[in-house]
Amino acid sequence: MIYLDNAATSWPKPDSVPRAMAAFLREWAANPGRGGHSMSIEAGRRVLAVREKLAAFFGVRESDRVVFTLNATHALNLAILGYLREGDHVITSDMEHNAVSRPLTKLRQERGVEITIVPGAASGCVDPEDIRRAIKKNTRLVVLTHACNVTGTINPIKEVGRLLRELDIAFLVDAAQTAGHIPINVDEMCIDMLAFPGHKGLLGPPGTGGLYIRKGLHVLPLMEGGTGTHSEEERQPAAYPERHEAGTVNSVGIVGLGAGLDFLTEKGLEKISEVETELQERLIRGLNAIEGVSVHLANSPRVCTASFNMDGIEPQEVAYILDQAYGVAVRAGLHCAPWVHAAMGNAGRGSVRVSPGYFTSLEEIDDFLAAIQEIADERRR
Ligand SMILES: Cc1ncc(COP(=O)(O)O)c(C=O)c1O
Repeated sequence: MIYLDNAATSWPKPDSVPRAMAAFLREWAANPGRGGHSMSIEAGRRVLAVREKLAAFFGVRESDRVVFTLNATHALNLAILGYLREGDHVITSDMEHNAVSRPLTKLRQERGVEITIVPGAASGCVDPEDIRRAIKKNTRLVVLTHACNVTGTINPIKEVGRLLRELDIAFLVDAAQTAGHIPINVDEMCIDMLAFPGHKGLLGPPGTGGLYIRKGLHVLPLMEGGTGTHSEEERQPAAYPERHEAGTVNSVGIVGLGAGLDFLTEKGLEKISEVETELQERLIRGLNAIEGVSVHLANSPRVCTASFNMDGIEPQEVAYILDQAYGVAVRAGLHCAPWVHAAMGNAGRGSVRVSPGYFTSLEEIDDFLAAIQEIADERRR
């Protein structure tokens, strides 16, 4: 299988990831933070070590402000539903995944939250000036994706962050497509909340993710319940990270995520980014050279993801042929981002998304391009 669906979840993982998970499960998988015995203490220590690694990775000073979640969707729901109140105004873009657009729409319908959607999908990125112009007296939050999950194009997070910090408006960034691919520093980028998956660029297993919440920001918990500490309190404790970690955390997954992070830091993000840039340049150059193929925003700066359409053949059919006849895994459709496709004039159709990863070889890109060439030739005949 040539796996080109890393934007959905990365595969393969470094060998150290399943190894660390199996060893932890075999030796130490007591309930972290739920007992005074040695196994529980050791499990808690290992979960804490990963929290500290994540904090260091994103330039977070207080690691207790990094809370573990199941995935990026969980993190985004926690941030959006926990922060916005009735009467608030929120600004977002048409580049968002529905892990952002759905909770926002729910708040508009159920809590009277006002939403302004600025453009970005058609041009490749939002213009910070559009955000400045959209700000109102009751604007309390701006939510932006760091990179579009359909086209891979990148938003100017630092510029928007600086603008919002001056105005004291909270900034939530969806780093689903950038964490582990390009550097993120929450201080330098003036990010107040950062939602990230553990299972994509950070190379951890499915079922992992997290949310950084800046100290001083008041975010209500999504769930209440067991934290292993503060048991005398009737409601969810105020202390972080327990406030947002009700119930037993996915310790096995978190340990795997720690191994993924170790791999990334050993290689260095610069090296990872260099490899991925070479892959995406070859991919886009190759696709552009095939008659009847149109790559969306082919010339924009991007992460290692691209979407395209082919003349005379639907995206789902392309993906099906690639899978069945060539053993190539890509994703077709709207990619959970209907706003993006609507803005690109592609609403009814969707696109084919190709997302290589660090472990993809240049030969695999060539094999994929040869398959697309054959499909295009066949269609013209
Ligand atoms: C931009 C973006 N946001 C959010 C998500 C949701 O991530 P998860 O699958 O970890 O819930 C994705 C997943 O593809 C994404 O691409």
